[in-house]
Amino acid sequence: MVDYSVNSSVALLLVNNPPVNALSHAVRKGLADGMLKATKDTKVKAIVIAGKGRTFPAGADIREFSGPGKEPWLVPVGNGIEASGKPVVAAIHGTCLGGGLEVALFCHYRVALKSARVGFPEVAIGILPGAAGTQRLPRVTGLPVAFDMITSGRHVPAEQAKKYGIIDEIVTGDIVNAGIRYAMIMVGKSTIPRRLRAKPVPDAENVQKYADAAMAHVKRKYKGYEAPVYCVKAVRASAEKPYDLGVENEKTLFNVVGKSGQARAQQYAFFAERVVGKWEMPGGNSQTAKPIPVRSTAVIGAGTMGTGIAVCILSAGLPCYLVEQNQKFLENGLKTIKALMEGSVKLGKISPEVGQRAASLLKPTMSYDDLTGVDLVIEAVYENLELKKEIFAKLDKVCKPSTILCSNTSSIDIDRIAVATKRPEKCVGVHFFAPAYHMKLLENIYSTKTSPDTAATVMKLGKTIGKVPILVKSCQGFLANRMNTPYGTESGFLVEEGALPWEVDQVMEDFGMPMGPFKVRDLSGLDVGSKITAEIAKTLGVTLTDETRFMAGNRYSHMNTVLANMGRLGRKSGKGWYKYEKAGGKIASIDDDVITVLNNHCKKLGIERRTISSQEIIERLMYSCINEGFKILEEGIAKRPEEIDISWLYGFTFPKYLGGPMYYANQVGLGRVYDRICYYHENFPFSKHWVPSQLLRRLSEQNIPMSQWMASPGARL
Ligand code: 3HC
Repeated sequence: MVDYSVNSSVALLLVNNPPVNALSHAVRKGLADGMLKATKDTKVKAIVIAGKGRTFPAGADIREFSGPGKEPWLVPVGNGIEASGKPVVAAIHGTCLGGGLEVALFCHYRVALKSARVGFPEVAIGILPGAAGTQRLPRVTGLPVAFDMITSGRHVPAEQAKKYGIIDEIVTGDIVNAGIRYAMIMVGKSTIPRRLRAKPVPDAENVQKYADAAMAHVKRKYKGYEAPVYCVKAVRASAEKPYDLGVENEKTLFNVVGKSGQARAQQYAFFAERVVGKWEMPGGNSQTAKPIPVRSTAVIGAGTMGTGIAVCILSAGLPCYLVEQNQKFLENGLKTIKALMEGSVKLGKISPEVGQRAASLLKPTMSYDDLTGVDLVIEAVYENLELKKEIFAKLDKVCKPSTILCSNTSSIDIDRIAVATKRPEKCVGVHFFAPAYHMKLLENIYSTKTSPDTAATVMKLGKTIGKVPILVKSCQGFLANRMNTPYGTESGFLVEEGALPWEVDQVMEDFGMPMGPFKVRDLSGLDVGSKITAEIAKTLGVTLTDETRFMAGNRYSHMNTVLANMGRLGRKSGKGWYKYEKAGGKIASIDDDVITVLNNHCKKLGIERRTISSQEIIERLMYSCINEGFKILEEGIAKRPEEIDISWLYGFTFPKYLGGPMYYANQVGLGRVYDRICYYHENFPFSKHWVPSQLLRRLSEQNIPMSQWMASPGARL
């Protein structure tokens, strides 16, 4: 795990634990043994610590956190490094993160390739740096940078890290050789002045000011998350306590936060994100399928989604045609893209060079004939099957035979679109979430005809453009929208039964959702929801009136349309479920008129309003979706619960500290969730989303652990 060698007078401790050289027990032991050997060897005058393969250690081995752990711990190993009388140099390439950066900070010198990045991402997995990182970083960078790096978890590029004082020198060429060369220069120099433990924290007298600012920031930005708060407390102590007591304090905080439910959930989410990359579908999987190279792309439609998608593609440095049917729409689209790219540069999401390059990569056109040679096209027009089919038929005629045709549909079965082409195996769904340039989820959808190579291509494209892609089987609404539907539906029923919209919103925001369901409706526009409902009613042959309570035997609430028909369209009209300071305003306030409309609506329908508890609100909104999630699993739409959880984390901003709805259900206990679903099914027999999932029933009866859900007998219908 740590290869030991001596090159002239320099000992090299090369961490060899692929893929990311995580600091597992064997690595920690290897480092401790290597240090002992190098210290004893009189021929050795300096020591280099580096990582073999792609990176310097990227942190502790997160998989070890669920077990009891084994000595040696990282702090004593680090103390051994720091106490060495022979200079120790960290030679950094790749990602030097978490425990890896802590090891580097125990070394006396740090050199790095320009391409390297350093950081403390522990906060993202619900913990804090636990091997003296919170005490050593402030001694190098000062408090403001330390607070920022440790509470945000951001990766800092090597050159910036040098400005912060973390890196002593940027080197070129082979990192190990560069480290050895640097170490040879340091031979004979005293290591005492380089020991961080003895350095004071700069500007320590102002700690109160910096800590208060950091705490206010994390409470606002990471509402509900415990780890950032603990990070602030730990860093603060670096300026208030002697080094050893600061390290003790860090250990105490680490032990508390590390054992919390949030940390476990966030670590589950970390691995879930990796699991969904290992997809499978009939005929192939992520190991066997071969993505086709995508060097050129096109987006059809310059509306909100089309422009957002084009921004994602351009930001990744890929050429992109933007196709519109008339000049005015095209020009508007170009303006939107320009503004979004400029915004991304300002926010530091992309570099000014990438922003500038995008202008030359973007090719506006009104002619499909320009698309003959593109590798991949994404259709992003509005949800209308006939229009989508028409576009796919046109593309099928003009594009070269290998071109992959994607539809950014949010719900239409891909098979129904692909029939318009002679290449159904190259047709696939790529569902982006609004705003497309911001939301990280990419829900890729295979039809009965999509080939594994086509699926592999869009999964790879997702990664290239910085998304978290998942692959699911086609059905009405796919995974994300199908599962999310009861969330909206139940919130509508709750306000009919007695809750007020702001009460439901408050409960769900306290639960962890960034915005309650009624604020979301106001944001997207009540007319949007109302039009979708009208379309569904049309296909079912139902005439909607203010009194309609059922559609095709299924319970329905007309309240959203009642408000929309009054011109209360949401934020854009200044009134919706809330009232706003102006049309287009953002500050929602309670509107008594809504209560009057609600009361009248209920009176007309003979609904007696009642008091509804917070617990019922959470159960009605979450358990109905969870029940649908289990149906999605048993029908094979998703292969694993991780796909569902990732879709909620990155598509609906579900709080990571709850892991995702399926993880959450497992924490609550499947038995309890199932019983409550049965209860609601009994009480609300006309809502088909309460018909209990058979998979959920079986799993709850047999008490099967989450990791075994899909391997259990009869998991699929
Ligand atoms: N522990 C265990 N496994 C890890 C790991 C870690 N710290 N980091 C990555 N892995 C695994 C992944 O699960 C994945 O496994 P798989 O191939 O079986 O799915 C494999 O390594 C490759 O990881 P990625 O797919 O994420 O590779 P990328 O190249 O896309 O990203 C990375 C590399 C940026 C290093 C990313 O893996 C990452 O962010 N890792 C986590 C870093 C981290 O959180 N470090 C802090 C750990 S906690 C700590 O150090 C506590 C300390 O203060 C005491």
